[in-house]
Formats: sequence, C-alpha cells, structure tokens
Amino acid sequence: MEDLYLGWIEQLRKGLEQWGSVKVPGKYRLVFIAGMGGSGIVGDYVAALSNVKGSIPVLVSKSHLVPNFLSRDDLVFIVSYSGNTLETRIAYEKIAEKKSRIVIVSSNGLLESIATENNLPFIPIVKGIAPRTALPHMLYAILGVLDSSGYSIVSRDEAVDAYENLKNNMKEAVDKAYELSSFIDEHKGLPILATHTPFEALVVRGKNEFNENSKIPVKVEVAPEWMHNDIVGWEKPFENKYSAIIIRDPSDDVGSKLVDFMKKIYINNNIPIYELELHGKTFLEKLLYGSLVLGLASVKLARIRGVDPLVTENITLYKKDAP
Ligand code: F6R
Repeated sequence: MEDLYLGWIEQLRKGLEQWGSVKVPGKYRLVFIAGMGGSGIVGDYVAALSNVKGSIPVLVSKSHLVPNFLSRDDLVFIVSYSGNTLETRIAYEKIAEKKSRIVIVSSNGLLESIATENNLPFIPIVKGIAPRTALPHMLYAILGVLDSSGYSIVSRDEAVDAYENLKNNMKEAVDKAYELSSFIDEHKGLPILATHTPFEALVVRGKNEFNENSKIPVKVEVAPEWMHNDIVGWEKPFENKYSAIIIRDPSDDVGSKLVDFMKKIYINNNIPIYELELHGKTFLEKLLYGSLVLGLASVKLARIRGVDPLVTENITLYKKDAP
C-alpha cells in the first residue's frame, strides 16, 4: 500500500492534466461539497483552502442530510471514489431536486452512471485504489473545476508548484513517516494529533488514516479552540496512556506560540511528544506534505502492528447493512 502514497506525484500530474477539462461557468452563491470518509475529507480541504484565500463560501456535508437553502444558484460537487456510497447517493438525489449545478467526482459505480445518464459534468478519478489514497487526484479535480470556472481558490501555477514541492520533499516525508510510526508504536496508548488553525482538516485526515490503515483510535486537538475546552480536560485526565504528535507551520509565529503552549501542558502530563514541521511555501503545499507524512506513517504503523492497512473490514460490514 505504500506505493499508493508514493504514487501521489503521479496523481497530481494527472490532476494537472485534467485541469480545466470541466468548466461550469455561471454566477453561483456558494459551493457545496458532499462526500463521506476518504472522499468527504476532500471537501474539508477545499473549504480550508477557501477560508484562507477563496472568493466564494464553501460548505461541506459528510452525511445524507442536505441543507434546505440549497438552490439553483449553488454549485455542488458530489464526491465518492467508489460512486456507490449510500449517504452520498442520497445527498445527490436531494440536491438534484433543488436544481443546483452538479459536478460528479468519482472513479466508478452508480454515480458515474448517474452522471452519464443525466449528462452531468464528470471528473473520472484513477481507478482501482483505496478511496483514501486518491486524495490528491480528487482534490485537484475540484480545484481545477473551480479555477477554470471563475472561482479560483488555487491557480494552475500554484497547483504545479505544490506538485513540485511534494516531489522535492518525498524522501523527507518517507523518513518522517518512518520516525513517526516508530514513535507511536513505542509509546502505544492513544495518540493525539495536535495542531494550530488553519490545519484542522489535516489532523482530521490524519486521524482517519490511523483509524483506517493502522486500526487504532486517535484524538484530535486544535489551537486556539483547544485553549477554550481541551485545556481543562488536561487538568485531571483519567490515567490512560497518551502520546502527542505536534504539527506546526514553522512560518506561522502565532500558530507556533499556540502549539508551544499545548506542548507545556502535555509535558506537565508526562505525555511523550513527536514534532512535525510542515514543509512548503503555500497552505496547499503544507497540507499535501502533512497528509503524505501522516498517510505513510499510518501504513508503516500497520506493518509494525501486523495488520493489513488496505482492508477496512468494519466499513465493509457497515456498508452491507447501512440503514
Ligand atoms: C476507504 C475510505 C473510506 C471511504 C468511505 C466512502 O479507503 O477511505 O473512508 O472513502 O467509506 O466511500 P467512497 O469514498 O467510495 O464514497
């Protein structure tokens, strides 16, 4: 499975090749992205990027529920790697009734057929890999449509730079992933992925990766919101084992001060710490670099623990019987 992460460079190249192949020009009120799990997180990344430098609000739904206010004035991305996820299909049906402009991002399945039958704009994603490992391709698919439709969050040039950055930092990411997996294995207990804003989506993604690949629960803590609740939880925690992975953007002084504050509290609680700095010039570059380190670390940890990173038995069980 490591090769699927090492293949991210190729996925980004594919995304750049498809950049601008689908355009949906129009005057939209907002962008709405629906998807679950490894597909849904792509929506979180686009929303985070848009919060930092977008020109249109981006809302995300990771459920079968759809807000009542959606209308024909909105641009909607339905993202499902398999094309078959029940919640995403239900969301699609509801959104279609609202007559919003819909773009489908998928590799296969019922949603691909729906796109063909209804003549909807469709971005085909590389087939036959685990949905969560298709993050870069699905992300560039959406960013490319937005950029070429007049709602740029990331320009093609910035996307090319991010591709180059990941290529140049590949070796470093592999080394960090190796260190991080050994750190988590050494300390066992509950790993905490701790960071500062605007990297909320990155640590959620990291949590999902350790859940799905390494088969362990993970806790997420983000400053400065952390200073308004979690911090009190560390006054008298249960006697469990924890480890903290502190992720920071070294060019963000405020962010760094915030995580330094978190670090002190973890140290007071005798929690071992691993620190990860996000390499890159732009937010996109840092997100991709961090995602690669966390993804690879989760696969390496699976190997150390003797579990199969690819198989997600309980998700399959749930999908068979989803209510
Ligand atoms: C599996 C994975 C899952 C799926 C989720 C939704 O690799 O990451 O979280 O992404 O079950 O399925 P799709 O992505 O096919 O809509």
